[in-house]
Amino acid sequence: MRRVVLIDTDTASDDAVALIMALRSPLVEVAAITVVAGNVPLEQATRNALFTAELCGSKVPVFAGAAKPLQRELEPATWFHGLDGLGDCGYAPVRRIAEKTHAAEAIVACVHENPGLEVITLGPLTNLALALALDPSIVGKIGRCVVMGGAPCCEGNVTPAAEFNIWVDPEAARAVLLSGLGIELVGWQLSRWDAVVSAPEIEAILALGTPFAEFAIRCNGRAREAYLVQTAEHGISLPDPVAMSVLLQPQLVLEASKHFVEIETASALTRGMTVVDRLNNSGDSRNTKLWQPARAQMQPASVVWKLDVAGWKQLLLNSLA
Ligand code: RIB
Ligand code: CA
Repeated sequence: MRRVVLIDTDTASDDAVALIMALRSPLVEVAAITVVAGNVPLEQATRNALFTAELCGSKVPVFAGAAKPLQRELEPATWFHGLDGLGDCGYAPVRRIAEKTHAAEAIVACVHENPGLEVITLGPLTNLALALALDPSIVGKIGRCVVMGGAPCCEGNVTPAAEFNIWVDPEAARAVLLSGLGIELVGWQLSRWDAVVSAPEIEAILALGTPFAEFAIRCNGRAREAYLVQTAEHGISLPDPVAMSVLLQPQLVLEASKHFVEIETASALTRGMTVVDRLNNSGDSRNTKLWQPARAQMQPASVVWKLDVAGWKQLLLNSLA
């Protein structure tokens, strides 16, 4: 019996590879793709999701959702992924269009139709926050919620303090973390250093000779250049596929622990920071009077600290073969 999954995405080049991994996996059935503005505006992200689904021969329903964060203006990442989000390679838009239902309503319906549904978010958490506001009861019916986001106890990629998905809509991220959902937090740092797809590994993927492999590398060409400028690291960093590998194969997580995670929403300097209570001293009586109301419904998030990198890369290769 395949596990049923819903993917929420701001479909740019790394999201697209994560979508391919799920759509081609024998382990899961993708019940829906919901789209949120983030890397690129909503219309473009929706086109990119439809394009990727067509590449995989999938008719999975695609639902467009929030065109901007809950309270802020959208600040896309076209500087990283290209104007179209897919490396500006000129991919022709597909004929299929998105469903009429709003993504937030689609998430609620999908959870009720599939108790135990596994949810993965690959973009800002706007759609999920809207769905939770629409029907808080889904908290008890969602089996897993893997969030690609955050920079737990480390530097961010969009500011020194914050990772892009959380930074774009920190109010949504805070609402999700306070909702009572059990979050598995896969931070940006897990897609760096040895987890980056190196030049030889890029050649090995291209040697597969499949349209999936060619697309995965080509649409991430711009991201590869931007990543080098951003970090001085060579290769293609794929945060969303890393998060997808955790969803598909939880055993790839080598180290994780549960902590209260708060999101900064007020400060301009640390907007979107995932403040992880790694020493769990917030439970200390000295602090509880400060945070008690919020903590009452908070679930500690399972923060992933270490990934089986070889396993992640093998899964990526298998997904593109
Ligand atoms: O910070 C990386 C995340 O932001 C990835 O999900 C990428 O696609 C962008 O959405
Ligand atoms: Ca993304």
